[in-house]
Amino acid sequence: MKKQSQWKSSTGFILASAGSAIGLGAMWKFPYMAGIYGGGAFLLMFLLFTIIVGLPLLIMEFAVGKMGQTYTTKIYEKLTQKKWLNIIGWNGNLAVFILFGFYSVIGGWIIIYILKVLGQLIGLSSGNLSSIEFEAIITNPWLTIMGQGIFILLTMVIVMMGVEKGLEKASKIMMPLLFIFLIVIVVRSLSLEGAQSGLRYILQPRIEDLSVKGTLFALGQSFFTLSLGTTGMITYASYASKEMTIKTSALSIVIMNIVVSVLAGLAIFPATEAFGFKPADGPGLLFKVLPQVFDQMAAGSLFYFIFLILFLFAALTSSISLLELNVSNFTKNNNEHRARVALIASVLVFIISVPATLSFGSLNDVRIFGLTIFDAMDFLVSNILMPLGALGTTLVVGQLLDKDALKESFGRDRFKLFSPWYYLVKLVLPLVIILVFIMQLI
Ligand code: PFF
Repeated sequence: MKKQSQWKSSTGFILASAGSAIGLGAMWKFPYMAGIYGGGAFLLMFLLFTIIVGLPLLIMEFAVGKMGQTYTTKIYEKLTQKKWLNIIGWNGNLAVFILFGFYSVIGGWIIIYILKVLGQLIGLSSGNLSSIEFEAIITNPWLTIMGQGIFILLTMVIVMMGVEKGLEKASKIMMPLLFIFLIVIVVRSLSLEGAQSGLRYILQPRIEDLSVKGTLFALGQSFFTLSLGTTGMITYASYASKEMTIKTSALSIVIMNIVVSVLAGLAIFPATEAFGFKPADGPGLLFKVLPQVFDQMAAGSLFYFIFLILFLFAALTSSISLLELNVSNFTKNNNEHRARVALIASVLVFIISVPATLSFGSLNDVRIFGLTIFDAMDFLVSNILMPLGALGTTLVVGQLLDKDALKESFGRDRFKLFSPWYYLVKLVLPLVIILVFIMQLI
């Protein structure tokens, strides 16, 4: 029988959507963005956006998935009877396709580091962790293309196996472990000499550091970490049973994401200052700073190796959701063609990921509106396609969907939160997103 994939339990749904949300966004992208756009001021804006904009939007996406119960290039038509609105689903599909293209570059870096550290552990190469040269890695075309190829391959194999057999079970162990590791790194980082100024940098909002650009990127960061506007979360909610509780699921994902982002900031910035790096160092920040921290620990190489495996796992549970969205749309949720579609989509992603990788090396001079290919892909997704997708969904939910049906999807409402949420989504959030677009143009 042709059958749509379904989670066996609501825990499966929460683990998978938390897995999609928590990944490179919180651990790699948040610190590097905060380092460029004002530290504590960026953190403050990120927190405000995540709570006021991100949380209601996540609840919205879950509600739409739960109501529609189908793939996202069909769900808008199913809910509104207007076929052209499926364009919101296609926008999301395009967004995750490009996103996977540049996400895999960083996934590839993690894999290369894993191999390098393993080489040191088994004695194939000498030196400590800090001797692994970041610049030499990211400018090496064959090495980085191999790394991202492995990352895409791993994602593909897991997706081919189907959601039921996915990684949810493993994430029950891996995610708490990653969390413990992060805390250990924070403790070590904070106890370094000179750590205080880094701590102040990330925790103390200095209003003068707040720029319009930083504010826009903080909103983009909220969208990115919560996987919003790509309809990825709608897809996962459409696999879930009607009984799942969308508010608590969304709230727990938002809280976990904030905690991991803040921990990543606390792990990176004290050490950044202590070792004399620049906070605004860009995408390589985490990769340059963490080896230094682990070098200060007993059995640091072994712990760094384990940390990288956990980090890779977190990245994979996100990349799986990126590929899963394509597979779900192009197979129309018919599991029969799963493997073939996953293969074709992965090959195409690999092709577009190559220029993104090379933009750290031989293609570094190529600029699109002043941005490298990698940064331009990220900007297009995080600051344009994701907000656009979320805007489209707020308009559908606020203007076209039946309020009573939405209320039912919202679930039991002990604290009378439905109305404030509904009017926020209907009236306020579309305006916020439009305003942000106008500011971006200016
Ligand atoms: N939220 C993921 C992260 O922070 O790493 C990235 C992501 C995954 C974005 C899935 C969008 C998506 F559909």
